[in-house]
Amino acid sequence: MRNKYTILVICIVALVIIEKENNIISRVSEKLTLKQTTQTQEPPPYYNGSSAPVVMEYDGEENATMFFDGDDYGHKHILLLAATRTGSSFVGEFFNQLGSNMFYLFEPLWHVERMLSEDMGIPNATVSSLAYRDVLLSLFLCDFSLLERFISPPPHEHVTPGLFRRESSMALCEEQVCTPVVKNVFERYRCKTRRCGPLNLTLASEACMRKEYRAIKTVRVRQLETLRLLVEDPRLDIKVIQLVRDPRAILASRMVAFSNKYQTWKSWAANGEVPIEDEEVKRLQGNCNQIRMSAELGLSRPNWLENRYMLVRYEDIARYPMQKAADMYRFTGIPFTSQARDWILKNTHTSEVTSGVYSTQKNSSEHVEKWRYSIPFKLAQVVQEVCGPAMHLFGYKFVDSEQTLMNRSVSLLEEKLFNLS
Ligand SMILES: *[C@@H]1O[C@H](CO)[C@@H](O)[C@H](O)[C@H]1NC(C)=O
Ligand SMILES: *[C@@H]1O[C@H](CO)[C@@H](O)[C@H](O)[C@H]1NC(C)=O
Ligand SMILES: *[C@@H]1O[C@H](CO)[C@@H](O)[C@H](O)[C@H]1NC(C)=O
Ligand SMILES: *[C@@H]1O[C@H](CO)[C@@H](O)[C@H](O)[C@H]1NC(C)=O
Ligand SMILES: *[C@@H]1O[C@H](CO)[C@@H](O)[C@H](O)[C@H]1NC(C)=O
Ligand SMILES: *[C@@H]1O[C@H](CO)[C@@H](O)[C@H](O)[C@H]1NC(C)=O
Repeated sequence: MRNKYTILVICIVALVIIEKENNIISRVSEKLTLKQTTQTQEPPPYYNGSSAPVVMEYDGEENATMFFDGDDYGHKHILLLAATRTGSSFVGEFFNQLGSNMFYLFEPLWHVERMLSEDMGIPNATVSSLAYRDVLLSLFLCDFSLLERFISPPPHEHVTPGLFRRESSMALCEEQVCTPVVKNVFERYRCKTRRCGPLNLTLASEACMRKEYRAIKTVRVRQLETLRLLVEDPRLDIKVIQLVRDPRAILASRMVAFSNKYQTWKSWAANGEVPIEDEEVKRLQGNCNQIRMSAELGLSRPNWLENRYMLVRYEDIARYPMQKAADMYRFTGIPFTSQARDWILKNTHTSEVTSGVYSTQKNSSEHVEKWRYSIPFKLAQVVQEVCGPAMHLFGYKFVDSEQTLMNRSVSLLEEKLFNLS
Protein backbone atom coordinates (compact mmCIF):
# COMPACT_ATOMS: atom_id res chain seq x y z
CA MET A 1 0.00 0.00 0.00
CA ARG A 2 2.73 2.33 1.06
CA ASN A 3 4.81 1.48 -2.00
CA LYS A 4 1.91 2.23 -4.27
CA TYR A 5 1.58 5.67 -2.77
CA THR A 6 5.27 6.32 -3.12
CA ILE A 7 5.19 5.34 -6.78
CA LEU A 8 2.14 7.53 -7.36
CA VAL A 9 3.80 10.49 -5.71
CA ILE A 10 6.97 9.98 -7.74
CA CYS A 11 4.91 9.80 -10.93
CA ILE A 12 3.12 13.02 -10.11
CA VAL A 13 6.34 14.80 -9.27
CA ALA A 14 7.86 13.57 -12.53
CA LEU A 15 4.86 14.77 -14.48
CA VAL A 16 5.05 18.16 -12.85
CA ILE A 17 8.74 18.42 -13.67
CA ILE A 18 8.15 17.43 -17.30
CA GLU A 19 5.35 19.94 -17.55
CA LYS A 20 7.58 22.66 -16.11
CA GLU A 21 10.38 21.82 -18.51
CA ASN A 22 7.94 22.01 -21.37
CA ASN A 23 6.89 25.39 -20.18
CA ILE A 24 10.44 26.54 -19.91
CA ILE A 25 11.26 25.24 -23.35
CA SER A 26 8.28 26.95 -24.88
CA ARG A 27 8.98 30.19 -23.01
CA VAL A 28 12.51 30.17 -24.30
CA SER A 29 11.55 29.51 -27.89
CA GLU A 30 8.90 32.17 -27.59
CA LYS A 31 11.51 34.61 -26.44
CA LEU A 32 13.77 33.64 -29.28
CA THR A 33 11.13 34.31 -31.88
CA LEU A 34 10.19 37.48 -30.11
CA LYS A 35 13.79 38.65 -30.17
CA GLN A 36 13.73 38.00 -33.87
CA THR A 37 10.77 40.28 -34.24
CA THR A 38 11.97 43.02 -31.97
CA GLN A 39 15.72 43.20 -32.12
CA THR A 40 15.99 44.16 -35.72
CA GLN A 41 16.46 47.87 -36.04
CA GLU A 42 17.35 48.50 -39.66
CA PRO A 43 15.50 47.35 -41.65
CA PRO A 44 12.41 47.66 -39.46
CA PRO A 45 10.35 44.52 -38.95
CA TYR A 46 7.21 43.93 -40.88
CA TYR A 47 4.77 41.14 -40.40
CA ASN A 48 2.90 39.47 -43.22
CA GLY A 49 0.21 38.04 -41.00
CA SER A 50 1.54 34.48 -41.00
CA SER A 51 2.56 32.90 -37.74
CA ALA A 52 6.24 33.54 -38.30
CA PRO A 53 7.52 37.08 -38.08
CA VAL A 54 9.15 38.14 -41.29
CA VAL A 55 11.69 40.83 -41.77
CA MET A 56 11.06 42.22 -45.18
CA GLU A 57 13.54 43.98 -47.33
CA TYR A 58 13.26 47.66 -46.55
CA ASP A 59 13.55 49.70 -49.69
CA GLY A 60 14.38 52.94 -47.96
CA GLU A 61 11.22 54.56 -49.22
CA GLU A 62 9.23 56.41 -46.66
CA ASN A 63 5.98 54.77 -47.71
CA ALA A 64 5.22 51.40 -46.23
CA THR A 65 5.03 48.86 -49.00
CA MET A 66 2.19 46.48 -48.64
CA PHE A 67 2.81 43.26 -46.83
CA PHE A 68 -0.71 42.40 -45.84
CA ASP A 69 -3.00 40.63 -48.26
CA GLY A 70 -5.94 42.93 -48.30
CA ASP A 71 -6.36 46.63 -48.22
CA ASP A 72 -8.58 48.72 -46.11
CA TYR A 73 -9.74 51.49 -48.36
CA GLY A 74 -12.93 53.22 -47.39
CA HIS A 75 -12.51 52.64 -43.69
CA LYS A 76 -11.65 55.23 -41.09
CA HIS A 77 -9.22 54.71 -38.26
CA ILE A 78 -8.91 56.69 -35.05
CA LEU A 79 -5.99 56.50 -32.68
CA LEU A 80 -6.61 58.07 -29.30
CA LEU A 81 -3.25 58.84 -27.71
CA ALA A 82 -3.02 59.78 -24.08
CA ALA A 83 -1.15 59.33 -20.82
CA THR A 84 -2.63 57.50 -17.83
CA ARG A 85 -5.12 59.44 -15.71
CA THR A 86 -6.01 61.86 -18.46
CA GLY A 87 -9.59 60.70 -18.85
CA SER A 88 -8.78 58.60 -21.89
CA SER A 89 -11.12 55.75 -20.95
CA PHE A 90 -13.95 58.23 -20.74
CA VAL A 91 -13.09 59.88 -24.03
CA GLY A 92 -12.61 56.46 -25.63
CA GLU A 93 -16.24 55.77 -24.80
CA PHE A 94 -17.27 58.66 -27.04
CA PHE A 95 -16.20 56.40 -29.90
CA ASN A 96 -16.96 53.00 -28.40
CA GLN A 97 -20.57 54.08 -27.98
CA LEU A 98 -20.97 55.08 -31.61
CA GLY A 99 -22.97 51.95 -32.37
CA SER A 100 -22.83 48.96 -34.65
CA ASN A 101 -20.44 50.47 -37.17
CA MET A 102 -17.54 50.95 -34.77
CA PHE A 103 -14.83 48.52 -33.79
CA TYR A 104 -13.17 49.91 -30.67
CA LEU A 105 -10.25 48.43 -28.77
CA PHE A 106 -9.28 49.50 -25.29
CA GLU A 107 -5.52 49.44 -24.79
CA PRO A 108 -4.46 46.33 -26.75
CA LEU A 109 -0.81 47.36 -26.30
CA TRP A 110 -1.11 46.34 -22.66
CA HIS A 111 -0.19 42.82 -23.78
CA VAL A 112 2.80 44.04 -25.76
CA GLU A 113 4.24 46.06 -22.91
CA ARG A 114 3.73 43.25 -20.47
CA MET A 115 5.48 40.66 -22.59
CA LEU A 116 8.36 42.92 -23.49
CA SER A 117 8.83 43.76 -19.80
CA GLU A 118 8.90 40.09 -18.90
CA ASP A 119 11.55 39.53 -21.51
CA MET A 120 13.77 42.51 -20.95
CA GLY A 121 12.93 44.08 -17.62
CA ILE A 122 12.44 47.69 -18.59
CA PRO A 123 11.91 47.35 -22.32
CA ASN A 124 14.09 49.28 -24.71
CA ALA A 125 12.01 52.24 -25.86
CA THR A 126 13.05 51.88 -29.49
CA VAL A 127 12.10 48.24 -29.58
CA SER A 128 8.76 48.85 -27.85
CA SER A 129 7.84 51.67 -30.15
CA LEU A 130 8.42 49.48 -33.21
CA ALA A 131 6.35 46.70 -31.71
CA TYR A 132 3.59 49.14 -30.73
CA ARG A 133 3.48 50.61 -34.20
CA ASP A 134 3.31 47.27 -35.96
CA VAL A 135 0.69 45.85 -33.61
CA LEU A 136 -1.45 48.96 -34.08
CA LEU A 137 -1.10 48.68 -37.84
CA SER A 138 -2.16 45.05 -37.92
CA LEU A 139 -5.08 45.68 -35.57
CA PHE A 140 -6.34 48.56 -37.67
CA LEU A 141 -6.32 46.06 -40.53
CA CYS A 142 -8.34 43.64 -38.37
CA ASP A 143 -5.46 41.19 -38.13
CA PHE A 144 -5.00 39.82 -34.60
CA SER A 145 -2.19 37.40 -35.40
CA LEU A 146 0.61 39.72 -34.33
CA LEU A 147 -1.15 40.70 -31.09
CA GLU A 148 -1.69 37.00 -30.39
CA ARG A 149 2.05 36.54 -30.15
CA PHE A 150 2.08 38.91 -27.18
CA ILE A 151 -0.87 37.45 -25.30
CA SER A 152 0.18 35.30 -22.38
CA PRO A 153 -0.77 32.53 -22.01
CA PRO A 154 -0.92 32.24 -25.79
CA PRO A 155 -4.36 31.82 -27.36
CA HIS A 156 -5.28 28.27 -28.25
CA GLU A 157 -6.54 27.99 -31.81
CA HIS A 158 -7.04 31.75 -31.78
CA VAL A 159 -9.23 31.57 -28.68
CA THR A 160 -8.31 33.33 -25.45
CA PRO A 161 -10.07 34.07 -22.17
CA GLY A 162 -7.52 36.77 -21.36
CA LEU A 163 -7.79 39.65 -23.81
CA PHE A 164 -7.20 42.75 -21.74
CA ARG A 165 -10.41 44.67 -21.01
CA ARG A 166 -12.48 42.86 -23.60
CA GLU A 167 -15.60 44.07 -21.83
CA SER A 168 -14.65 47.66 -22.58
CA SER A 169 -15.16 47.05 -26.26
CA MET A 170 -18.78 46.85 -27.35
CA ALA A 171 -17.79 45.16 -30.59
CA LEU A 172 -16.04 42.31 -28.76
CA CYS A 173 -19.19 41.56 -26.81
CA GLU A 174 -21.73 41.78 -29.60
CA GLU A 175 -23.81 38.79 -30.50
CA GLN A 176 -21.79 37.57 -33.47
CA VAL A 177 -18.61 37.53 -31.38
CA CYS A 178 -20.22 35.96 -28.35
CA THR A 179 -19.56 32.22 -28.18
CA PRO A 180 -21.29 29.89 -25.72
CA VAL A 181 -20.08 30.04 -22.14
CA VAL A 182 -17.46 27.44 -21.28
CA LYS A 183 -17.55 26.00 -17.79
CA ASN A 184 -14.51 26.19 -15.53
CA VAL A 185 -12.67 28.76 -17.60
CA PHE A 186 -11.80 31.85 -15.65
CA GLU A 187 -12.38 35.00 -17.61
CA ARG A 188 -11.06 38.04 -15.94
CA TYR A 189 -12.33 40.41 -18.61
CA ARG A 190 -15.70 38.89 -19.36
CA CYS A 191 -18.47 40.69 -21.18
CA LYS A 192 -20.95 42.51 -18.99
CA THR A 193 -23.72 42.98 -21.51
CA ARG A 194 -24.18 39.26 -22.17
CA ARG A 195 -22.64 36.04 -21.01
CA CYS A 196 -20.02 34.87 -23.48
CA GLY A 197 -17.34 32.22 -23.62
CA PRO A 198 -13.65 32.92 -24.27
CA LEU A 199 -12.95 35.28 -27.13
CA ASN A 200 -12.50 33.71 -30.56
CA LEU A 201 -10.15 36.14 -32.27
CA THR A 202 -11.19 34.92 -35.69
CA LEU A 203 -14.71 36.08 -34.90
CA ALA A 204 -13.30 39.33 -33.55
CA SER A 205 -11.40 39.85 -36.76
CA GLU A 206 -14.51 39.17 -38.83
CA ALA A 207 -16.49 41.64 -36.73
CA CYS A 208 -13.75 44.21 -37.22
CA MET A 209 -13.86 43.67 -40.97
CA ARG A 210 -17.61 44.34 -41.06
CA LYS A 211 -17.23 47.75 -39.42
CA GLU A 212 -16.57 50.90 -41.31
CA TYR A 213 -14.84 52.64 -38.40
CA ARG A 214 -12.11 51.43 -36.10
CA ALA A 215 -10.73 53.13 -33.04
CA ILE A 216 -7.95 52.23 -30.64
CA LYS A 217 -7.16 53.92 -27.37
CA THR A 218 -3.69 53.66 -25.93
CA VAL A 219 -1.62 55.25 -23.19
CA ARG A 220 1.57 53.48 -24.24
CA VAL A 221 2.83 55.32 -27.29
CA ARG A 222 5.35 57.87 -26.08
CA GLN A 223 6.27 59.75 -29.21
CA LEU A 224 4.02 60.69 -32.08
CA GLU A 225 7.02 60.55 -34.36
CA THR A 226 7.29 56.78 -33.96
CA LEU A 227 3.92 56.40 -35.68
CA ARG A 228 4.92 58.01 -38.92
CA LEU A 229 4.92 54.82 -41.00
CA LEU A 230 1.53 53.93 -39.59
CA VAL A 231 0.06 57.32 -40.44
CA GLU A 232 1.55 57.18 -43.92
CA ASP A 233 0.40 53.67 -44.65
CA PRO A 234 -1.74 53.98 -47.75
CA ARG A 235 -4.15 51.31 -46.55
CA LEU A 236 -5.23 53.36 -43.56
CA ASP A 237 -7.13 56.59 -43.28
CA ILE A 238 -5.95 57.42 -39.82
CA LYS A 239 -6.70 60.33 -37.54
CA VAL A 240 -4.70 60.83 -34.38
CA ILE A 241 -6.29 62.52 -31.39
CA GLN A 242 -3.87 63.44 -28.63
CA LEU A 243 -5.53 63.94 -25.30
CA VAL A 244 -3.70 66.00 -22.68
CA ARG A 245 -4.44 67.08 -19.15
CA ASP A 246 -2.91 69.40 -16.57
CA PRO A 247 0.15 67.50 -15.30
CA ARG A 248 -0.57 68.66 -11.75
CA ALA A 249 -3.95 66.96 -11.99
CA ILE A 250 -2.36 63.83 -13.44
CA LEU A 251 0.09 63.59 -10.55
CA ALA A 252 -2.67 64.18 -7.99
CA SER A 253 -4.81 61.51 -9.64
CA ARG A 254 -1.97 59.00 -9.86
CA MET A 255 -1.14 59.50 -6.20
CA VAL A 256 -4.64 58.33 -5.40
CA ALA A 257 -4.99 55.63 -8.05
CA PHE A 258 -1.52 54.10 -7.71
CA SER A 259 -1.04 54.96 -4.07
CA ASN A 260 1.74 52.44 -3.41
CA LYS A 261 3.91 53.65 -6.23
CA TYR A 262 3.75 57.21 -5.03
CA GLN A 263 4.88 56.77 -1.44
CA THR A 264 8.03 58.80 -2.06
CA TRP A 265 6.01 61.72 -3.38
CA LYS A 266 3.83 61.56 -0.31
CA SER A 267 6.80 61.59 2.02
CA TRP A 268 8.30 64.53 0.14
CA ALA A 269 5.05 66.39 0.52
CA ALA A 270 5.02 65.62 4.23
CA ASN A 271 8.62 66.81 4.65
CA GLY A 272 8.14 69.83 2.49
CA GLU A 273 11.35 68.97 0.61
CA VAL A 274 11.52 67.55 -2.89
CA PRO A 275 14.90 66.36 -4.21
CA ILE A 276 14.58 67.77 -7.69
CA GLU A 277 17.40 65.52 -8.93
CA ASP A 278 15.56 62.36 -7.91
CA GLU A 279 14.79 59.71 -10.53
CA GLU A 280 11.06 60.02 -9.90
CA VAL A 281 11.11 63.72 -10.62
CA LYS A 282 13.23 63.12 -13.70
CA ARG A 283 10.73 60.56 -14.93
CA LEU A 284 7.91 63.06 -14.53
CA GLN A 285 9.93 65.59 -16.44
CA GLY A 286 10.68 63.06 -19.18
CA ASN A 287 7.00 62.19 -19.55
CA CYS A 288 6.01 65.82 -19.77
CA ASN A 289 8.67 66.47 -22.37
CA GLN A 290 7.56 63.56 -24.53
CA ILE A 291 3.95 64.67 -24.42
CA ARG A 292 4.99 68.21 -25.26
CA MET A 293 7.26 67.12 -28.11
CA SER A 294 4.51 64.98 -29.61
CA ALA A 295 2.11 67.91 -29.42
CA GLU A 296 4.65 70.32 -30.87
CA LEU A 297 5.20 67.97 -33.74
CA GLY A 298 1.48 67.57 -34.36
CA LEU A 299 0.76 71.27 -34.07
CA SER A 300 3.61 72.12 -36.43
CA ARG A 301 1.61 70.29 -39.08
CA PRO A 302 4.25 68.44 -41.02
CA ASN A 303 3.02 67.12 -44.37
CA TRP A 304 2.61 63.59 -43.18
CA LEU A 305 0.23 64.71 -40.42
CA GLU A 306 -1.73 67.22 -42.45
CA ASN A 307 -5.39 66.98 -41.36
CA ARG A 308 -4.56 63.91 -39.36
CA TYR A 309 -3.76 65.35 -35.95
CA MET A 310 -5.91 66.93 -33.30
CA LEU A 311 -4.99 68.06 -29.80
CA VAL A 312 -7.69 68.02 -27.12
CA ARG A 313 -7.51 69.08 -23.50
CA TYR A 314 -9.41 66.91 -21.08
CA GLU A 315 -10.48 70.02 -19.18
CA ASP A 316 -12.29 71.30 -22.27
CA ILE A 317 -14.04 67.99 -22.71
CA ALA A 318 -15.14 68.12 -19.11
CA ARG A 319 -16.50 71.64 -19.56
CA TYR A 320 -18.14 71.15 -22.94
CA PRO A 321 -18.43 67.42 -23.53
CA MET A 322 -21.01 67.55 -26.27
CA GLN A 323 -19.33 70.32 -28.18
CA LYS A 324 -15.92 68.69 -27.93
CA ALA A 325 -17.28 65.31 -28.94
CA ALA A 326 -18.86 66.96 -31.97
CA ASP A 327 -15.52 68.59 -32.79
CA MET A 328 -13.75 65.27 -32.61
CA TYR A 329 -16.35 63.57 -34.76
CA ARG A 330 -16.13 66.34 -37.32
CA PHE A 331 -12.38 65.98 -37.38
CA THR A 332 -12.57 62.22 -37.94
CA GLY A 333 -15.23 62.52 -40.62
CA ILE A 334 -17.39 59.98 -38.83
CA PRO A 335 -21.09 60.76 -38.32
CA PHE A 336 -21.89 61.54 -34.68
CA THR A 337 -24.75 59.16 -33.96
CA SER A 338 -27.61 59.79 -31.59
CA GLN A 339 -26.50 56.70 -29.71
CA ALA A 340 -23.12 58.27 -28.94
CA ARG A 341 -24.83 61.53 -28.10
CA ASP A 342 -27.20 59.81 -25.68
CA TRP A 343 -24.34 58.12 -23.94
CA ILE A 344 -22.57 61.43 -23.44
CA LEU A 345 -25.73 63.08 -22.16
CA LYS A 346 -26.30 60.31 -19.70
CA ASN A 347 -22.74 60.19 -18.47
CA THR A 348 -21.95 63.86 -18.10
CA HIS A 349 -25.32 65.10 -16.88
CA THR A 350 -25.27 67.71 -19.58
CA SER A 351 -28.35 69.36 -20.86
CA GLU A 352 -28.42 69.74 -24.56
CA VAL A 353 -28.98 73.27 -25.75
CA THR A 354 -31.10 74.02 -28.81
CA SER A 355 -28.23 73.87 -31.29
CA GLY A 356 -27.96 70.20 -30.52
CA VAL A 357 -24.21 70.15 -30.29
CA TYR A 358 -23.37 72.81 -27.78
CA SER A 359 -23.85 72.16 -24.15
CA THR A 360 -22.29 73.08 -20.90
CA GLN A 361 -22.57 71.43 -17.60
CA LYS A 362 -21.20 71.71 -14.15
CA ASN A 363 -20.73 68.20 -12.88
CA SER A 364 -17.77 66.94 -14.82
CA SER A 365 -16.09 70.30 -14.71
CA GLU A 366 -16.38 70.24 -10.95
CA HIS A 367 -14.97 66.76 -10.94
CA VAL A 368 -12.07 67.73 -13.16
CA GLU A 369 -10.93 70.36 -10.63
CA LYS A 370 -11.06 68.20 -7.54
CA TRP A 371 -7.32 67.65 -7.68
CA ARG A 372 -6.77 71.25 -6.60
CA TYR A 373 -7.75 70.26 -3.07
CA SER A 374 -5.84 67.01 -2.95
CA ILE A 375 -2.39 67.91 -4.25
CA PRO A 376 -0.01 69.45 -1.70
CA PHE A 377 1.07 72.86 -2.92
CA LYS A 378 4.72 71.86 -2.70
CA LEU A 379 4.17 69.13 -5.28
CA ALA A 380 2.19 71.43 -7.54
CA GLN A 381 5.23 73.70 -7.51
CA VAL A 382 7.53 70.84 -8.48
CA VAL A 383 5.30 69.91 -11.39
CA GLN A 384 5.29 73.53 -12.53
CA GLU A 385 9.05 73.55 -12.38
CA VAL A 386 9.71 70.39 -14.38
CA CYS A 387 6.66 70.43 -16.66
CA GLY A 388 6.63 74.18 -17.24
CA PRO A 389 7.12 74.10 -21.02
CA ALA A 390 4.32 71.56 -21.48
CA MET A 391 1.98 73.53 -19.23
CA HIS A 392 2.75 76.66 -21.13
CA LEU A 393 2.07 75.02 -24.48
CA PHE A 394 -1.27 73.60 -23.35
CA GLY A 395 -2.37 76.72 -21.50
CA TYR A 396 -2.29 75.59 -17.87
CA LYS A 397 -1.67 78.53 -15.55
CA PHE A 398 0.85 78.41 -12.76
CA VAL A 399 -0.14 79.09 -9.17
CA ASP A 400 2.10 80.93 -6.74
CA SER A 401 0.41 80.10 -3.47
CA GLU A 402 -1.70 77.48 -1.80
CA GLN A 403 -4.54 80.03 -1.57
CA THR A 404 -4.64 80.46 -5.33
CA LEU A 405 -4.39 76.72 -5.89
CA MET A 406 -7.44 76.13 -3.74
CA ASN A 407 -9.42 79.17 -4.82
CA ARG A 408 -11.96 77.89 -7.26
CA SER A 409 -12.77 81.33 -8.61
CA VAL A 410 -9.27 81.45 -10.06
CA SER A 411 -9.28 79.51 -13.31
CA LEU A 412 -6.10 77.60 -14.09
CA LEU A 413 -7.04 77.20 -17.71
CA GLU A 414 -6.19 79.66 -20.44
CA GLU A 415 -8.76 79.77 -23.18
CA LYS A 416 -6.78 78.33 -26.02
CA LEU A 417 -7.60 77.11 -29.47
CA PHE A 418 -5.43 74.48 -31.06
CA ASN A 419 -5.79 72.89 -34.46
CA LEU A 420 -6.74 76.06 -36.29
CA SER A 421 -7.07 75.11 -39.90
C1 LIG B 1 4.37 35.12 -44.96
O1 LIG B 1 5.68 34.74 -44.65
C2 LIG B 1 5.82 33.32 -44.49
C3 LIG B 1 7.22 33.07 -44.01
O2 LIG B 1 8.17 33.69 -44.83
C4 LIG B 1 5.48 32.64 -45.82
O3 LIG B 1 5.62 31.25 -45.66
C5 LIG B 1 4.05 32.98 -46.18
O4 LIG B 1 3.75 32.44 -47.46
C6 LIG B 1 3.85 34.49 -46.21
N1 LIG B 1 2.44 34.76 -46.37
C7 LIG B 1 2.00 35.68 -47.19
C8 LIG B 1 0.53 35.86 -47.20
O5 LIG B 1 2.73 36.39 -47.86
C1 LIG C 1 5.78 53.20 -52.44
O1 LIG C 1 7.12 52.99 -52.82
C2 LIG C 1 7.24 52.06 -53.87
C3 LIG C 1 8.71 51.69 -54.04
O2 LIG C 1 9.51 52.81 -54.06
C4 LIG C 1 6.64 52.69 -55.12
O3 LIG C 1 6.82 51.87 -56.23
C5 LIG C 1 5.17 52.86 -54.85
O4 LIG C 1 4.53 53.50 -55.95
C6 LIG C 1 4.92 53.69 -53.59
N1 LIG C 1 3.52 53.55 -53.23
C7 LIG C 1 2.76 54.59 -52.91
C8 LIG C 1 1.35 54.29 -52.59
O5 LIG C 1 3.20 55.72 -52.86
C1 LIG D 1 17.72 50.20 -27.71
O1 LIG D 1 18.18 49.34 -28.72
C2 LIG D 1 18.87 50.00 -29.77
C3 LIG D 1 19.21 49.00 -30.83
O2 LIG D 1 19.30 47.72 -30.33
C4 LIG D 1 20.10 50.68 -29.21
O3 LIG D 1 20.78 51.38 -30.24
C5 LIG D 1 19.69 51.65 -28.12
O4 LIG D 1 20.82 52.20 -27.53
C6 LIG D 1 18.85 50.95 -27.06
N1 LIG D 1 18.33 51.94 -26.17
C7 LIG D 1 18.41 51.80 -24.85
C8 LIG D 1 17.84 52.89 -24.04
O5 LIG D 1 18.92 50.83 -24.34
C1 LIG E 1 -13.51 30.52 -34.14
O1 LIG E 1 -14.37 31.07 -35.09
C2 LIG E 1 -14.08 30.63 -36.41
C3 LIG E 1 -14.97 31.42 -37.35
O2 LIG E 1 -16.31 31.21 -37.08
C4 LIG E 1 -14.33 29.13 -36.51
O3 LIG E 1 -14.05 28.68 -37.82
C5 LIG E 1 -13.41 28.44 -35.52
O4 LIG E 1 -13.67 27.07 -35.50
C6 LIG E 1 -13.61 29.01 -34.13
N1 LIG E 1 -12.57 28.48 -33.27
C7 LIG E 1 -12.84 27.67 -32.27
C8 LIG E 1 -11.67 27.12 -31.53
O5 LIG E 1 -13.98 27.38 -31.95
C1 LIG F 1 -24.80 66.41 -11.30
O1 LIG F 1 -25.87 67.01 -11.96
C2 LIG F 1 -27.07 66.30 -11.85
C3 LIG F 1 -28.10 66.94 -12.72
O2 LIG F 1 -27.91 68.32 -12.79
C4 LIG F 1 -27.47 66.23 -10.38
O3 LIG F 1 -28.66 65.50 -10.25
C5 LIG F 1 -26.37 65.57 -9.60
O4 LIG F 1 -26.68 65.57 -8.23
C6 LIG F 1 -25.06 66.26 -9.83
N1 LIG F 1 -24.02 65.50 -9.21
C7 LIG F 1 -23.04 66.05 -8.55
C8 LIG F 1 -22.04 65.13 -7.99
O5 LIG F 1 -22.98 67.24 -8.38
C1 LIG G 1 -10.26 84.01 -4.72
O1 LIG G 1 -9.97 84.69 -5.89
C2 LIG G 1 -10.82 85.79 -6.13
C3 LIG G 1 -10.52 86.32 -7.52
O2 LIG G 1 -9.14 86.52 -7.71
C4 LIG G 1 -10.60 86.83 -5.04
O3 LIG G 1 -11.43 87.94 -5.27
C5 LIG G 1 -10.91 86.19 -3.71
O4 LIG G 1 -10.61 87.09 -2.68
C6 LIG G 1 -10.11 84.92 -3.53
N1 LIG G 1 -10.57 84.24 -2.34
C7 LIG G 1 -9.75 83.84 -1.40
C8 LIG G 1 -10.38 83.11 -0.26
O5 LIG G 1 -8.56 84.03 -1.46
